[in-house]
Amino acid sequence: MLRRQLLTAAVAAIGGAIAGGLGLLGGAFVKATARWPVRSAKKWAAICTLADLKGDAPFATSFSFRRLEGWYVETVTRQVYVTRDGDGRPVVHSRRCTHLGCPVTWRATTGLFHCACHGGMFDAQGRVTEGPPPRGLDVLESRIAGEMVEVAEA
Ligand code: FES
Repeated sequence: MLRRQLLTAAVAAIGGAIAGGLGLLGGAFVKATARWPVRSAKKWAAICTLADLKGDAPFATSFSFRRLEGWYVETVTRQVYVTRDGDGRPVVHSRRCTHLGCPVTWRATTGLFHCACHGGMFDAQGRVTEGPPPRGLDVLESRIAGEMVEVAEA
C-alpha cells in the first residue's frame, strides 16, 4: 500500500512539474510574441526632393526599410532611379534588371540604362531596347508629399 501511494505521489509530482514547465513556456511565448511587429498599413519612404530632378538624367538614390519576413525582421535596401514622365511627374524605376536581377546603370553617353550582366538595355522610360530582359524596369508606387518624392515600402 505504501509503495502504491509513493508511485502515485511521484507520478503526480512529475505531471505537475511538466504542466508547470509548459505553463512557463507558454507565458514566455506570449510575452515574446507581444513585441513582434504587426503588418500595418502602407508606409512611405522619402527618396529625394523635387529639386533633385532638375536635370535630364535619371536621379539615382536608394532607400531602406524594415520588413517582417516570416518570424524575423529584415532590413531591405532598394536602389532606384527617379525620372519624370511626359507631364513632369516623378517615376521611380527599380535598378533591378528584369532578366536576372543585376543592377542597371544609367549612361548619359547612350541615354540608356545598361545591364552589365548580359547586355540588357532600357530607355529612359524603362522600356527594353536590347538584350534578354523580358519586360521593362519595374515601376515602384510613388507619390509627391510636399517637396519630397516618396515611394511605397514593399
Ligand atoms: S541580368 Fe540584366 S541582362 Fe541579364
